Amino acid sequence: MENLKSELHIVGICGSLRKESFNRGLLRAFEQQLPDKIKFTEADISELPFFSEEREQNLPETVLKLKELVESADALIVSTPEYNLSYTAVLKNALEWLSRSSLQRPLAGKPVVVMGAASVQVGVSLSHLRDVMYALNMKLINRPIIQVGNAREKFDEKGNLIDSGVKELLGNLKDELINALK
Ligand SMILES: Cc1cc2nc3c(=O)[nH]c(=O)nc-3n(C[C@H](O)[C@H](O)[C@H](O)COP(=O)(O)O)c2cc1C
Repeated sequence: MENLKSELHIVGICGSLRKESFNRGLLRAFEQQLPDKIKFTEADISELPFFSEEREQNLPETVLKLKELVESADALIVSTPEYNLSYTAVLKNALEWLSRSSLQRPLAGKPVVVMGAASVQVGVSLSHLRDVMYALNMKLINRPIIQVGNAREKFDEKGNLIDSGVKELLGNLKDELINALK
């Protein structure tokens, strides 16, 4: 914890809108590992309208709120399920808004971690997501890789993580992220 800014802020984005989402559970389990000194906020992307260049003329309130939250973040952590061998449309929509010069491109240069949980596997979706983050010039923190397949065996019915191996990986991720922000 030496050399850390007095308060770091990490913003989580969940690629699923499901209330008891495994991915929201993964973000929650990550948050539980953070020291008190680090603030964590989950962004709400559920009410964002679909991106359209016409809508940029009069930016919606939900978009402005998300932009401000992302700007306030020292780092982002994104957790997404795999939908049809890619990541989800709600997440893509949020990234499209946040990629725009009308919002001063708040993702550019931002440190980011990606992870995910899905019924079978999440590897392909996370590869797609990393490609888009490369296009957005985000600063990917690549290790440890957290890809939770067979999610039904690793979370309870409320979406709480119950797998000790994944919990340990999240602890390593927390350390890597803190080191990257020093
Ligand atoms: C439209 C759709 C497509 C899906 N495609 C995949 C897939 O390609 N691979 C996979 O492992 N699971 C797939 N699933 C299952 C999801 O991984 C599963 O529902 C997961 O729990 C969703 O994440 P969440 O719990 O965070 O909502 C799909 C689910 C939906 C609704």
